[in-house]
Amino acid sequence: MNNKYELIYEGKAKKVFSYDESDKVLIEFKDDATAFNALKKAKFEGKGKLNCLISAKIFEFLIQKNIPTHFLELKNENTMVAQKIKVIPLEIVLRNTAYGSLCKQTTIESGTVLAKPLIDFYLKNDDLNDPLITKDRIELMNIISLEDLDFIVDLTLKINEFLKSFFKKIKLQLVDFKLEFGYDLKNNIVLGDEISPDNCRLWDLNQNSDTIVSLDKDRFRNDLGGLIEAYSEINRRINNSM
Ligand code: TMP
Ligand code: ASP
Repeated sequence: MNNKYELIYEGKAKKVFSYDESDKVLIEFKDDATAFNALKKAKFEGKGKLNCLISAKIFEFLIQKNIPTHFLELKNENTMVAQKIKVIPLEIVLRNTAYGSLCKQTTIESGTVLAKPLIDFYLKNDDLNDPLITKDRIELMNIISLEDLDFIVDLTLKINEFLKSFFKKIKLQLVDFKLEFGYDLKNNIVLGDEISPDNCRLWDLNQNSDTIVSLDKDRFRNDLGGLIEAYSEINRRINNSM
């Protein structure tokens, strides 16, 4: 990034920089991939660009549906301009189909379609390994008010409905996803972070067999190979659908 912008924060997959206006930031998407709280690390050339382009398209779609997000515009292929927000240290995971940690921690079988979406909260804290957290613990820790948490849950359910139909149109099953929210300068809650195959599980519906074909970061988590091919395919389907 042009060194006139100051690095404010570096995460595992993105860097955040100051921008010309103090109420905006630049978010640069990196090629790094991590899994299991960075126990597993790799670099995939082109991943940053693909996630940035995919996220931008999805944010634009959600904004059209009146979902408040931090996204403003693309700066270049791997950088977006976003509103400066105060990130709420919670990861909100919504699951439509049982997979991943839900099946490791419960007796629910992998692939079970859930009767209604399940929302799990995780504390965003690398030192503690992002533990699963309850509503009562969120209240106890004063992370956000229960009123704001209810607002986030409602917004997440709405986002799920929009995203499910968005992905279904391009023949992808939205299994689960993780969202992060923050407060903008007017103290409104807005959707932050990214929406990409790094934080969504997407299964290919263009398959005749019953085998699951993951077009998301499970290709890296589970050593399946072909991560860039999968992300490129998602980007291609999104562009072809517009
Ligand atoms: P999980 O089954 O491992 O709990 O993951 C649920 C969803 O959340 C899946 O779409 C991947 C996403 N996720 C993240 O985006 N970041 C994370 O740190 C974790 C653990 C999951
Ligand atoms: N985001 C997590 C990590 O950085 C893990 C994951 O997405 O599975 O390790």
